[in-house]
Amino acid sequence: MPNNYVKIFDTTLRDGEQSPGATMTSAEKLEVARSLARMGVDIIQAGFPAASPDDLEAVRRIAIEVGNPPKAEPDAKVPTITGLARANKSDIDKAWEAVKDAQKPRIHTFLATSPIHMKHKLKMDPEEVVNRVSEMVAYARTLCADVEFSPEDAGRSDPEFLYVVLGEAIKSGATTLNIPDTVGYTTPDEYFKLIDGVIRHTPGMHDGITVSVHCHDDLGMATANALAGIQAGARQAEVTINGIGERAGNTSLEEVVMTLKTRHPIFNLETGIETQQLSRVSKLVSNYTGIVVQPNKAIVGANAFAHEAGIHQDGMLKHQATYEIMRPEDVGVNQTTLVMGKHSGRAALRARLAVMGHSLDEAELDKAFVRFKELADRKKVITDADLEAVIADEFYRPRDVYYLEGLQVSCGTLGMPTATVRLRGPDRTVYNFASMGTGPVDATYKAIDAIVKTPCKLLEFNIHAITAGIDALGEVTVRIQSDGSGDTKMDAQSELEYARVYGGHGADMDIIVASAKAYINALNKLIIAKTEGVQPVHNDFGVMLG
Ligand code: KIV
Ligand code: ZN
Repeated sequence: MPNNYVKIFDTTLRDGEQSPGATMTSAEKLEVARSLARMGVDIIQAGFPAASPDDLEAVRRIAIEVGNPPKAEPDAKVPTITGLARANKSDIDKAWEAVKDAQKPRIHTFLATSPIHMKHKLKMDPEEVVNRVSEMVAYARTLCADVEFSPEDAGRSDPEFLYVVLGEAIKSGATTLNIPDTVGYTTPDEYFKLIDGVIRHTPGMHDGITVSVHCHDDLGMATANALAGIQAGARQAEVTINGIGERAGNTSLEEVVMTLKTRHPIFNLETGIETQQLSRVSKLVSNYTGIVVQPNKAIVGANAFAHEAGIHQDGMLKHQATYEIMRPEDVGVNQTTLVMGKHSGRAALRARLAVMGHSLDEAELDKAFVRFKELADRKKVITDADLEAVIADEFYRPRDVYYLEGLQVSCGTLGMPTATVRLRGPDRTVYNFASMGTGPVDATYKAIDAIVKTPCKLLEFNIHAITAGIDALGEVTVRIQSDGSGDTKMDAQSELEYARVYGGHGADMDIIVASAKAYINALNKLIIAKTEGVQPVHNDFGVMLG
């Protein structure tokens, strides 16, 4: 890699998935991984295989399907696929098991190095930590040629000690040294010095070692810190889409990439990211996780390119660069408005979806075409955003335990809002139920609850129109949490597990139908977790991973 290339390491599927409610199904994870690869991400951290057999399987599928070139294009660029592992043999074995079928596998192992973590969490003295790192990195190297090591909580570690630990990691065969500011504590100046010190003073540091930044946003400085680290010489950035992640989140991929591009004269650095795909991937992750992107979020927020003040609009009309430092089309906003209409055929749909990166088989294309025609009957112009929503709704929803077969709502100012819901349940049984509520969505959700009988709390409900215009598709995201009542078998562990938040997404011309779909999708995730049991992360070290 030339020294002006910054590798983008995406951890949306690992650190991102650790944000409350970001739980994604295996199919959703696979689709996110595909989109990341298509966008040009260099390394995909596909998960934490030791967390559960499901997590291991999800990483394995990504390694096989995204970490290898398609048969038709054997020379296509594929990303490195990595799985996270604590510094113990069992985790490392599982990480290897999960990634070994990728063309470019990597094991990423970590151990904390800050005094507070070593004393209270690990209960290990510094010497034991050094020995464990060298043993486990060496062990990982017996399995995989590409090994990354992270000294967790490096931001609060003694730099001199860090150099010793990192020197041992290099000696044992690590090729990437990632320096996490696990609790988002450092300032840009401090983080610059930290990375600079690591590069200058780690024994055995050489050109073949990549130093990596990994920052959390607890004080709102994750992007600034990551960029400071890059200026100090780091050439890998660990980031997530929309900046999702543990607590306040991680450095966001789109912010780092667009800063390097927009301020190229300062940084003089390149990434391999096709930035026109940023907006699409941001939406995909938001839909799957149910985590709505704040409207004023840099780069991908709904208002990031909206100019409200008259003086700004006037300036924009005179010259776009008066108030815009990036062009919206560079991040995929407002691209390709006019796509297709009701006279477009199956071949045109297939071609457009292929350009958007979806290769559907014949049966899937048939389904997509039916949905497209339904939409085209009701909406004059269909945009990429519409197609994206339909594809997500049709193909990337969780497995159907319950499926919405029909919905009839009566609402308005005369009488109580009433909803009649028809669901197809497990064993294909069809259930009908009618309910009243304070509004049409409330009535619909009450009817669904009466059929599904899985008590949960609705934590968040968001609705928005995908495109402008009265005929826009409505998109709904919800976040729910099991309240566990009525579950007689709940032990402490499953209580913890059920405390997870599940997101659901639905799109339809009718916003009540979209609302019903989103709720049913979230409930399906919850029911699958309850019946099939999702294993919690067993953390020997007693704390959540950051
Ligand atoms: O923030 C952190 O320390 C991490 C490591 C486990 C890489 O996510
Ligand atoms: Zn982290």
